Amino acid sequence: MATIFSGIQPSAQAPHIGNYIGALKQWVELQEGNDALYCVVDLHALTVPQDPKKLQESIDQTYALLLAIGLDPEKSTVFVQSQVPAHAQLGWVLQTISTMGELSRMTQFKDKSAKFKDSIPSGLFTYPTLMAADIVLYDTQIVPVGEDQIQHVELARNLAQRFNNRFGDTFVVPNVQIKKEGARIMSLADPTKKMSKSDENKHAAVFLNDPLDVIQEKLSRAVTDSQTEITFDPERKGLYNLLSIYKILTGKSEVEIEQDMKGKGYKEFKQEVAHQVITLVEPIQTRMQELLSDRTALHDSMKRSAEKAASRAQKKLEEVYSKIGL
Ligand code: TYM
Repeated sequence: MATIFSGIQPSAQAPHIGNYIGALKQWVELQEGNDALYCVVDLHALTVPQDPKKLQESIDQTYALLLAIGLDPEKSTVFVQSQVPAHAQLGWVLQTISTMGELSRMTQFKDKSAKFKDSIPSGLFTYPTLMAADIVLYDTQIVPVGEDQIQHVELARNLAQRFNNRFGDTFVVPNVQIKKEGARIMSLADPTKKMSKSDENKHAAVFLNDPLDVIQEKLSRAVTDSQTEITFDPERKGLYNLLSIYKILTGKSEVEIEQDMKGKGYKEFKQEVAHQVITLVEPIQTRMQELLSDRTALHDSMKRSAEKAASRAQKKLEEVYSKIGL
């Protein structure tokens, strides 16, 4: 049994199939037989401007989605970050032992800050120290994420080690866990870019709450190439991305898929992929609506989980405060 921690940002836009395949699918698998904590990281969402009303709704939606995909609050602790104050408190402590140099090297900061020109929010810069706090608060051993978070988990490891060296053994040094396949699902509109929530091209990502006809349309327009044969070739980026999605959702082998697709065209193949995505999301959407129709029950569940997480987090925070002389 291992201690698992991972998080997802709430946003007005629901998670996309990249988030699902790269991270959320693993979360559901890992809740069996492990001590797993999964967090809606609302404090992280503040690193870019938010509308308060919309943010509140996004938090509910994301929490409901996590339950709808199969996370069970009886098996794992699914909670909202801001409801456990120790995250922000430890985040500050870890920020004080991090350096400008190491934070400047974060590629996600470079990407996300580019669009702000001169007035880059400083939270965007320091955010990986809060993420490190999320992880080390619970003596986390394994952090299941998509490829774009590897560098942040690496930073969490460095900060945990640095703290341990300066103040004595306190934190478990976490390990990242990446799926061999699906850790980087690419944009459907431009398969050289990763699928991203903030992509301006509305055909780039399939969101878990997209209407079913929209899913079909987005997949039918997915960029492929001018060849005809459907084979796994990483050089044919658009097709390869669709094949990877299909492979993960069906659990079939590459040989089996290539066999099945012999003689079929892109149109038929894309319809098959859409069918698999719809089979995945339809029950999730139904369950999510049920959960969102009873906000009292939803908020009660959030509160119970936050209490569970907070009692663990508080102990670790007290140990940290005492070690650093507070
Ligand atoms: P976030 O909300 O951007 O993404 C949630 C998860 O989805 C993965 N992901 C992808 N996987 C495959 N293909 C893609 N195109 C793709 N896009 C996103 C991400 O890698 C992530 O696992 N900083 C984190 C949230 C966080 C966290 C943590 C994660 C906060 N504290 C502690 C782990 C541990 C983030 O913004 O993820």
